[in-house]
Amino acid sequence: MIITVEEPKHAAAIEALLDASFGPDRFAKTAYRLRDGVDSIPALNLVAIEHDEHGREVVVGTIRYWPILVGGTTQSILLGPIAVAAHLQGSGLGSKMIRMSLNKAVALGHKSVILVGDAPYYERFGFSRALTLGMEMPGPVDMSRLLGLELVEGSLAGAAGMIGKPEQADAQDIAIGETSVLGPVLGPVLATSIDMPAGDTSVPFSALFSRAAAERIWTDRVRRTDWFWRDGLQAGAA
Ligand SMILES: CC(C)(COP(=O)(O)OP(=O)(O)OC[C@H]1O[C@@H](n2cnc3c(N)ncnc32)[C@H](O)[C@@H]1OP(=O)(O)O)[C@@H](O)C(=O)NCCC(=O)NCCS
Repeated sequence: MIITVEEPKHAAAIEALLDASFGPDRFAKTAYRLRDGVDSIPALNLVAIEHDEHGREVVVGTIRYWPILVGGTTQSILLGPIAVAAHLQGSGLGSKMIRMSLNKAVALGHKSVILVGDAPYYERFGFSRALTLGMEMPGPVDMSRLLGLELVEGSLAGAAGMIGKPEQADAQDIAIGETSVLGPVLGPVLATSIDMPAGDTSVPFSALFSRAAAERIWTDRVRRTDWFWRDGLQAGAA
């Protein structure tokens, strides 16, 4: 099993996995209105890949993120869709992809994450309804499923109003990350930390972030010796 950054060659397999998970009607969901015509955030889009008996790649997991603007002013990112192949659901793969991508989002300077999903699942990563109470979606949504997460403490304080697509220029800012200078510095640190089969993964972060932020680091509770992380910066088998 490899978890790596999505590449164009994975696109068709991802669509097939999403169709299998959500059905072909998924494009009618309100979240897709926020994705339509907007580029997702390449650095945060991950795939999980297995190899079949012929050595061919099989995409068994996908997670994507999109730039959004809350109330016309607050930049954030939208998590989703996320899907795991049926035979691997419950194995920890979804959690692993979420934790990896959230850690990477921190490194890239993103300040908050919004999603539409099941609170009982996403609360374990720190998402909460309380942070989105003043927000609206551009279509029908069960608002109890609109959840937020602050990557930087206070970043969603006062964030309210309609969630929309970013302006063209803003979209690029959000996709790159406002503190993208940290990306090259923290990227290898994160990749290495995430992959380590054991050890204190909070050390690199606590040196760079406040205590409050350090508490928002998502450590990987699932230690699988046959999974490893690769994003072009670091590669290695755990
Ligand atoms: C939701 C999904 C991405 C989770 O990934 P996963 O690899 O199966 O989940 P994990 O192994 O990381 O976590 C399993 C735990 O999450 C729980 N869980 C999974 N989906 C859940 C849900 N929708 N609501 C509440 N809990 C959920 C499991 O009961 C299990 O709990 P436990 O740790 O107490 O045993 C995956 O099941 C999936 O692709 N489902 C179909 C598509 C989907 O619903 N996507 C999410 C849309 S919001």
